[in-house]
Amino acid sequence: MAKADGNGANGPCVLECRNVSAYRGGTLVFDGIDLCIETGRNTAIIGPNGSGKTTLLKLLSREIYPVHHPDSRLLVYGRELWNVEELRSRLGIVSNDLQQEYGRYAKGREVILSGYYSSIGTHTHQQFSAAELSHAEVLLQRLGIEHLADRPFGRMSTGQQRRLLLGRALVHDPEALLLDEPTGGLDLSATFRYIETVRELMRSGKQVILVTHHLHEIPPEITRIVFIRDGRVVADGAKEQLLTSERVSGLFGCPVKMVRANGFYQAVPG
Ligand SMILES: Nc1ncnc2c1ncn2[C@@H]1O[C@H](COP(=O)(O)OP(=O)(O)OP(=O)(O)O)[C@@H](O)[C@H]1O
Ligand SMILES: [Mg+2]
Repeated sequence: MAKADGNGANGPCVLECRNVSAYRGGTLVFDGIDLCIETGRNTAIIGPNGSGKTTLLKLLSREIYPVHHPDSRLLVYGRELWNVEELRSRLGIVSNDLQQEYGRYAKGREVILSGYYSSIGTHTHQQFSAAELSHAEVLLQRLGIEHLADRPFGRMSTGQQRRLLLGRALVHDPEALLLDEPTGGLDLSATFRYIETVRELMRSGKQVILVTHHLHEIPPEITRIVFIRDGRVVADGAKEQLLTSERVSGLFGCPVKMVRANGFYQAVPG
């Protein structure tokens, strides 16, 4: 497995889009987008509301498919065709959609176990091996949420739910984690704990692909930034070069001053 050391590309692209167009409902979100997210490099995709960030993750996870065109290519780990189950064991996904759709009644332990079947909750016909059951307990402990093992999902806070969905994404020990605005709705302490957990995962070799407009949730281990706006890549490069007051102001179309501390960035009104 490629190590996410943050020092640059070291393999084929996790995602390679060449001239990709895609719809959500009746909206043409991408009209010929080109982008490569390198394997092993922790990357954040940043853009305003509605720019296409979540849609890009859905293309990557095969929740939606691009418009078929002979000059268009969408490769995931160098392949065009994937068994969705196999792909989901290589990519762990934590999305807000999933959090909203997830049933209220599944208990914490079941939320984690549901990752083995990419299901919402667990079902009586699903079988779990002793190894899978014990791995779920290890993940509960590793994420510091053993106390939520028997609590229904609908009776947890946003931050607690988010941690369980991270555990669900980790059951297959995926190579990469796709996180969609992971700290939205979390208080400061929950945000910092979540970011620290994500940092530990990156240090242990998981690649993180983060889509967000919350600039403060970009940890130091993320070294590459892609700016998207209106379904187009408008900049792509090293974090220090892109997270400047001038460039972030241009991306969001308002005056922004970027402040940097402890390897993190924060945006304040410019
Ligand atoms: N189910 C849908 N049906 C029709 N259009 C949609 C649907 N979901 C999203 N869109 C549209 O697709 C575009 C891209 O949406 P997307 O969710 O990818 O944006 P985003 O960058 O993730 O925004 P946010 O920061 O608000 O999460 C937007 O114009 C949005 O209105
Ligand atoms: Mg989104």
